[in-house]
Amino acid sequence: MSDLASALGEAVGAAFAGLGLPAELGRVTPSDRPDLADFQSNGALAAAKRAGRNPREIAGAVAAALAGQPALAAVEVAGPGFINFKVNAAALTARANALAADDRAGLSRVATPRRVLVDYGGPNVAKEMHVGHLRASIIGESIKRLYRFRGDETVGDAHFGDWGFQMGLLIVACADADPAIAAHLERLATEPPGWSEADERALDADLDARVSLADLDRLYPTAAARAKTDPAYRDRARRATAELQAGRFGHRLIWRHFARITRAALERDFHALGVDFDLWRGESDVDPLVEPMVEDLKEKGLLVEDQGARIVRVARPDDRREVPPLLVVSSEGSAMYGTTDLATILDRKRFFDPDLVLYVVDQRQADHFETVFRAACLAGYAAEGSLEHIGFGTMNGADGKPFKTREGGILKLRDLIDMATDKARERLREADLGGELPADEFETTAMQVAVAALKFADLVNFRGTSYVFDLDRFSSFEGKTGPYLLYQAVRVKSLLRRAAAEGIAPGPILVQEGAERELVLLLDAFDRAAAEAYDKRAPNLIADHAFRLAQTFARFYAACPVLTAEPSVRASRLSLAALTLRQLELALDLLGIATPERM
Ligand code: ARG
Repeated sequence: MSDLASALGEAVGAAFAGLGLPAELGRVTPSDRPDLADFQSNGALAAAKRAGRNPREIAGAVAAALAGQPALAAVEVAGPGFINFKVNAAALTARANALAADDRAGLSRVATPRRVLVDYGGPNVAKEMHVGHLRASIIGESIKRLYRFRGDETVGDAHFGDWGFQMGLLIVACADADPAIAAHLERLATEPPGWSEADERALDADLDARVSLADLDRLYPTAAARAKTDPAYRDRARRATAELQAGRFGHRLIWRHFARITRAALERDFHALGVDFDLWRGESDVDPLVEPMVEDLKEKGLLVEDQGARIVRVARPDDRREVPPLLVVSSEGSAMYGTTDLATILDRKRFFDPDLVLYVVDQRQADHFETVFRAACLAGYAAEGSLEHIGFGTMNGADGKPFKTREGGILKLRDLIDMATDKARERLREADLGGELPADEFETTAMQVAVAALKFADLVNFRGTSYVFDLDRFSSFEGKTGPYLLYQAVRVKSLLRRAAAEGIAPGPILVQEGAERELVLLLDAFDRAAAEAYDKRAPNLIADHAFRLAQTFARFYAACPVLTAEPSVRASRLSLAALTLRQLELALDLLGIATPERM
């Protein structure tokens, strides 16, 4: 199914070709002057420049060639040589009915599906989530949904940070805080003879009772701070890390406990935010791949010694900035962040063989990824261009610095959700919905409004842009906000419910009024917006479309009565409203936002 702009573009291209000019010049775009025209072509200007001819003359010849086009109501040459098009009612009507019959609300599939892995979220054990993780989750979830809906085989991986020095720190901190833990670690240096599943369950139960997530949250910052000033403490933590990585039995068991309780809490909070990962592969999962990989890098002549460490140099003579080498093995013999990232590329090749990997991670890690990607290509682990860093800016506080809580701490996902939900409840009560909805529906709705507020405020900006956290504004039912979009969607739902209650059925769409034309033109533009969002990995283009759709619907609804119109018009407008709702809900779903029934 082709949209109006593409169909028109083909006809205009043929007209250019008929004049001996390149058909690509026929591309049409929505008009800059919607009051005068629906679409425009700037091709005559480009053609004239190339051929040294008069643009208005070329535009005139193209317009003349298009005069008999069945879909067009008017073709006009404007200004220095723009060609303006007005589509006729029959073409709009046909397109609207085709969209209404399409269960994808007009969104096409990619011609050649690929296998795409989206690496996003990136939460860590014990270390609290910060705004970087929040944005990674929101943007990554949306990109994953968009790629999947367009037909790519898509997998989202949390790339759980469950390995490295912070694990050793936690082990030491827990052993110091609780002698029973220290005793477990002492006793379980190696697997005791006859160790059974029952022993393991008993140990897990004991660990559950002794070490909670709250304990980790409390112990970690203190331990991390102490390691910075106390070398003996740091060395103990390093040793514990090395022992864990070497597979020391008790260390493994307690580490598994940390990872398990952290992951359970994270999964719950992410789920509340409408973020669900397909995979929770951890950095630890690729640990067995590291040693053979280091061997392989050595064999390929890529590994060089540098002040006791082993690195891969990736700089190129034509680099315009300095690209750091990949630190593969530190001078203390440990694998680093880049090492696990490189090994993860190998791991993913094995279990998924992706055509494309999108790393949705803070822009501040750009150098890290440039280095890893280059090393992967040099080693032949990935094809050039198959690894892409999708960077983003920060969410800032009013002071322009990355957002912190009022106490100056790093925000917790749970607290953020609670804060936004409180605000949503307040707003719903202001809108006088407190008394109307049953308590459990009120709660679900408040949660959905909160998630819409947070996510839309993030996704409406191009991801590279930083923005200021302003919950009051994000939660408003007016303006370019998530709650406004939900509110419009809910209005349509209530209209459809009323129609159903009155036994009024939708029928064929007939486009007549200006507001109907406007709405259909926008519904038609969804596919292009989504395709561009896909190509640029830019969900803000979907957010923009959703907002314009909601606004255009509001204008249509104000100008065109639905239930009181005469029967055929009423049936047509009802279908148009239902189509709008489906497209709006799909757009919101691609942003990771769910719509309530009432609000
Ligand atoms: N855990 C990392 C952090 O907290 C983010 C991981 C991003 N993904 C990756 N493949 N490196 O900074």
